[in-house]
Amino acid sequence: MNEREHRLVIAIDGPSGAGKSTLAARLAKRLSYVQIDTGAMYRAVAFLMHSACVDPDDTIAVERFCEVVDVRLEDANGVQRVVANGQDVTSQIRTPEMSLLTSRVSALKPVREAMMRAQRAMGSAGGVVLEGRDIGTVVFPDADLKFFLSASLEERGRRRYAELIGKGEQVSLEETIAAVALRDEQDSKRDLAPLRQADDAIAIDSSGMCIEDVLEKMEGYIRQKRQDRKNRMKVILAKRAGFCFGVKRATQMAFEAAVMDKKTYTLGPIIHSPQVVNKLEEMGVRVIKDLETMESGTIIIRSHGVASEEITEAMEKNLEIIDATCPFVKKAQEHVKSLSEAGYGVVVVGDADHPEVQGIVSYGGDKVDVVGSGDEVKKLPKMNKIGIVAQTTQSFENLKNVVSECLLRGGEIRVFNTICDATAVRQEEAKELACQVDCMLVVGGYNSANTRRLSEVCAELQTRTHHIETAAEIDPVWFDGVERVGVTAGASTPKCIIDEVVSRIEEINKSH
Ligand code: DC
Repeated sequence: MNEREHRLVIAIDGPSGAGKSTLAARLAKRLSYVQIDTGAMYRAVAFLMHSACVDPDDTIAVERFCEVVDVRLEDANGVQRVVANGQDVTSQIRTPEMSLLTSRVSALKPVREAMMRAQRAMGSAGGVVLEGRDIGTVVFPDADLKFFLSASLEERGRRRYAELIGKGEQVSLEETIAAVALRDEQDSKRDLAPLRQADDAIAIDSSGMCIEDVLEKMEGYIRQKRQDRKNRMKVILAKRAGFCFGVKRATQMAFEAAVMDKKTYTLGPIIHSPQVVNKLEEMGVRVIKDLETMESGTIIIRSHGVASEEITEAMEKNLEIIDATCPFVKKAQEHVKSLSEAGYGVVVVGDADHPEVQGIVSYGGDKVDVVGSGDEVKKLPKMNKIGIVAQTTQSFENLKNVVSECLLRGGEIRVFNTICDATAVRQEEAKELACQVDCMLVVGGYNSANTRRLSEVCAELQTRTHHIETAAEIDPVWFDGVERVGVTAGASTPKCIIDEVVSRIEEINKSH
């Protein structure tokens, strides 16, 4: 993380005369942040409206005016200038009349919307201290730090009185206090963005406190916030997490079929993601185990493929077939078929209980054996010709072990490396990531073989590995003492689920 990422959005709200401007200017200077005096922006709008004789009660005129109003805060040798529609209005916006007019003008919807847009544009990159009435509640409700600065009415009146007298204004203390009270009332009782303390704001009552003390207090909170930010976990998402080519293709085909308004079924789950399967069910695509009861309609062949007899049965029943079998799985099925037809004893490296393997095996008649590891090859009889094909999600290491053992048992060996690159790439990336982090989350269906394998390879390198299906399963305790958390996902995990997991971690990050 670089320092730029720690640049905060600091909001200071509160009634007039609470010391916001002075404190915002001092804080901005110390932090080398930009100060955004939003009150000055509203004052500039009021001044321009007044100069252009725009009646605040004339809605159309106000709207037109707001379409073209342009208020900027510019730095002139360390002093902030307020430039409105190209005119420097700094010295004209702080009179008592302008204060009261601003309070009225700032309650108008088009004015608030125009200023809010401008303020967000100025502050969203961070490194800003914004002061106003609605910064923490409306303009930047997600501000990193929110202060609500207040002081008693008398004290604020006295401060404003001293300021005006200092500028040579002819005012009495009583009328200044009354004017401050009137603005308090207007600012906090208006319908739009009324002055209100945000629930998560730090309240500071500056009555009886000198500026230095308030400043020190605020800086303490800022230091703490910056430290917390530095201490936050870094979330690293594997680049290839989620859908592989075959799964993406199958899912797309199934969702396209789902909107066709036909009787549509999938033979087994379309992919190993219960969430995708549920979504399709909601759209009317039902999962069936076999074709026994299906007499008509559309059958979608899942990405893992099905047994060859089932395709034959679907054809005999004249069902409409949408074949979403992954092209890599299809290749493995074709190799098994051609190997067995050529008289090879076929060895499929994979998990015998997995539907993909069961489908692949069916293409080789009775000449196929499934082995999970090199050791299992030892139980096979000696064969003259051995053809080897792998479940697409197998590890290369395991295929190599099986091939070595087969070399000891057969004369002629033909090997088709049908391992899908997507699986290997995900595994390599996951291994690399697992070594860099203190906690690893692997997202995907519990019935997804490749997700389980990802989780296994990660667990070998990082004991704090958790296989989850959805964000709801995350336990914040997992992140105790964690600085970097890695996230990867199986090839059948939809992007929306991965996004939810990352958002949940970020949420926990913020509340830590
Ligand atoms: O902070 P100030 O006194 O310069 O503000 C002038 C007026 O602008 C004040 O009456 C309230 C209004 N204002 C507002 O409505 N929202 C803001 N974010 C800032 C100021």
